[in-house]
Amino acid sequence: MAHKLTPFITAEQIAQRNTELGREVTASYSGETPLVCICVLKGAFLFFADIIRRIDREIEIDFVRLASYGSATSRSEDIVFSKDLEISIEGKDVLVIEDIVDTGHSMDFLLHVLRRRNPKSLKICALIDKHERREKAVTVDFAGFKLSDGFIVGYGLDYDERYRELGGIFELSNES
Ligand code: IMP
Ligand code: MG
Repeated sequence: MAHKLTPFITAEQIAQRNTELGREVTASYSGETPLVCICVLKGAFLFFADIIRRIDREIEIDFVRLASYGSATSRSEDIVFSKDLEISIEGKDVLVIEDIVDTGHSMDFLLHVLRRRNPKSLKICALIDKHERREKAVTVDFAGFKLSDGFIVGYGLDYDERYRELGGIFELSNES
């Protein structure tokens, strides 16, 4: 079955929101120590690249990738790192930059692991916050856009590894 892509958020709207988010993030950190920005691969790669260039302070970057095992419904218990951080976050301000927080299971896992490494602070910036679908109590500190339901692709987000390269965000449905 072919997919239908319906425009949802334009590249211009994303750019505008990213500028605001960059200002919000910049304003919420003070002090001299660098802010560690963590990109959750793969979905956040474009958002991450855009956001870090709008944060007006010294930063360090690193990448993680999560994999879920077992059932299609990913529970935190079934999630592991398929790529861990390479730098230490101990005593540092840490900002996790993620594409979508949906049920919250992935982010819940990640936050637990990172907290054990004793960062000075730990916050989340997500392009999309599907807050109504939450099963774990995860709060997004900096949210680009809120969404109640639906499946979206583009600007890094995929369906089975497709559509990540699109500049805007589209709602995906099946062509009837
Ligand atoms: P969670 O563990 O349920 O919060 O899953 C979040 C992850 O599911 C995100 O990081 C995305 O990789 C993926 N995801 C959730 N909703 C969508 C969507 O609408 N489009 C693409 N990926 C999604
Ligand atoms: Mg993801």
